[in-house]
Amino acid sequence: MTETSPENDGSGATGTAAQANTPALEMEGVRKVYEVADEEVVALDHAELIVGSNEIIALVGPSGSGKTTLCSIAGGILSPTEGKVIVGGNDISGYSAKQLTEFRRDSVGFVFQTVNLIPFLTARENLLVVDEISGRDRKRANKRADQLLEELGLADRAGNLPSQLSGGQKQRVAIGRSLMNEPSLVLFDEPTSALDTKLGDQMVELIREEMKSRGTAAIIVTHDERITGYADRTVHITDGRLEA
Ligand SMILES: Nc1ncnc2c1ncn2[C@@H]1O[C@H](COP(=O)(O)OP(=O)(O)OP(=O)(O)O)[C@@H](O)[C@H]1O
Ligand SMILES: [Mg+2]
Repeated sequence: MTETSPENDGSGATGTAAQANTPALEMEGVRKVYEVADEEVVALDHAELIVGSNEIIALVGPSGSGKTTLCSIAGGILSPTEGKVIVGGNDISGYSAKQLTEFRRDSVGFVFQTVNLIPFLTARENLLVVDEISGRDRKRANKRADQLLEELGLADRAGNLPSQLSGGQKQRVAIGRSLMNEPSLVLFDEPTSALDTKLGDQMVELIREEMKSRGTAAIIVTHDERITGYADRTVHITDGRLEA
């Protein structure tokens, strides 16, 4: 419970309190159809999903069932063919390409199976790259990057290139990067499937710690029982249809 006190100038805290009850994500009647040559592939149909403001959802389903499509739509990488997508109270379904770019930059985090670090940038630079490109307050970005590197146990590896990091360290850089914009929703697409048992264990714990300590909502595409075990809810998807 957060109380608004007179000393509270309302700049950040009030906003946070007001957002606390707003779902991180609401999908209403979402349909996604891909057109390939003359054929239409219905990747998502009648998708209804509400993700609470600090809920961790495991999304489970067979290959080709629409998991990556759902994450891409929730994160503004793709627009739905039909339906509403509301992220943190903002209806992004009608956003223009430019608005979606800003939305992705400012509001969501992504962690992909393939870590996708930029090979010629150091760990620290990989965290800072989006802020640099978008010309955001450099001092603040530097501070946040250093804080995240510290929290993720990477302070002494900040200057290393990805090729000079272990698999688990690369994963941590990817998580750090996804948290740079202080997202209210992070989308993980099979974050442990490419990792061996030990690194997978570390990743599983790291996601839990990072999401729970920050109160960040997450959708984690996974078959990993270590993750479904601690998720608040598991949502199943088959042929583009969701079942709780
Ligand atoms: N860009 C695209 N163009 C055309 N069809 C696509 C495209 N992306 C995905 N599809 C199709 O949409 C359906 C859902 O794909 P999606 O990638 O969302 O599945 P998934 O559940 O993530 O599968 P996997 O577990 O193999 O990653 C599949 O039939 C796939 O072939
Ligand atoms: Mg996928």
